[in-house]
Amino acid sequence: MIVCSCRALSDAAFRATLDTERPDRPRTAAQAYRCLGQRPDCGRCLRTVRQVLDEARAARGTCCGGACETAEELARPVPMLLAAE
Ligand code: FES
Repeated sequence: MIVCSCRALSDAAFRATLDTERPDRPRTAAQAYRCLGQRPDCGRCLRTVRQVLDEARAARGTCCGGACETAEELARPVPMLLAAE
C-alpha cells in the first residue's frame, strides 16, 4: 500500500528500512526517508509512516513496549519536517 503519494513509497518500503541489525537503523520517519534516499514533500504521510514504523518494531519485538531506553526515546516528540527543508 502506498503511504506516501508524493514519493510513491509503500509501507513495505518503510518496513524494509528496519531490516537491519545496525544500530543506526531509522528511529524516526525522517531517518526512514533518508534510508530510502528520499525526503518528504507535503508531510501528510508522516503520521502514517510513524505508525508503520512503530507497528513494524512492535511486530519484530525490537521494543519492550515502554520499559526500555529505546521506548523512551521513541516516545519523544519528533519535530515536524517542513516541506521547504
Ligand atoms: S504524501 Fe508523503 S510527503 Fe506528501
